[in-house]
Amino acid sequence: MHRILSDPQAMRFWSTDPHPDLATSSEWLASMIGRPDGSDFIIEHGGKVIGKAGAWQLPEVGFILSPDHWGKGFAREAMEAIIGHLWATTETPRLTADVDPDNHASIKLLNKLGFHETHRAENTFFIGGRWFGSIYFALERPALAAGRPAQ
Ligand SMILES: CC(C)(COP(=O)(O)OP(=O)(O)OC[C@H]1O[C@@H](n2cnc3c(N)ncnc32)[C@H](O)[C@@H]1OP(=O)(O)O)[C@@H](O)C(=O)NCCC(=O)NCCS
Repeated sequence: MHRILSDPQAMRFWSTDPHPDLATSSEWLASMIGRPDGSDFIIEHGGKVIGKAGAWQLPEVGFILSPDHWGKGFAREAMEAIIGHLWATTETPRLTADVDPDNHASIKLLNKLGFHETHRAENTFFIGGRWFGSIYFALERPALAAGRPAQ
């Protein structure tokens, strides 16, 4: 994960600067594993770690893949499985996401997963000496998954 979290290209729209050292990534990993309100997953392909996806802090989801694995459907495949798992194992009524307006890959991915935009805000993150904005997305729990009959 440190290879990915220290990569400026992968981290361009992340909520922190690229990790400067292995200790920062170790802390990140420990907090990911230790969070009682999270359900995050490391993604492996061909025996190698290629990224992570999931709810780092319910109900908010997040994902990051190694750039050499972008555009191959891995994030969509992972998130579809994870969303089903989150409906089955938690009672959260919705999942949310917070994405920079210029992060076209994440916006497309969220739209493909069924998320819809709820609102926008400017200057929500100050990272690396500049301000970034947010588009907020939500995905409601399907009625069937909540145990109610389909309409
Ligand atoms: C966002 C990210 C995880 C997407 O991973 P990915 O495996 O490349 O995504 P997928 O291949 O599953 O693509 C999902 C959809 O988005 C589209 N997409 C992917 N990259 C795109 C891009 N750069 N521009 C436009 N659309 C894109 C795909 O075409 C696909 O749609 P399709 O099914 O119609 O073909 C990856 O780009 C990434 O790690 N980005 C950096 C980290 C980041 O910004 N995380 C989010 C912070 S909120």
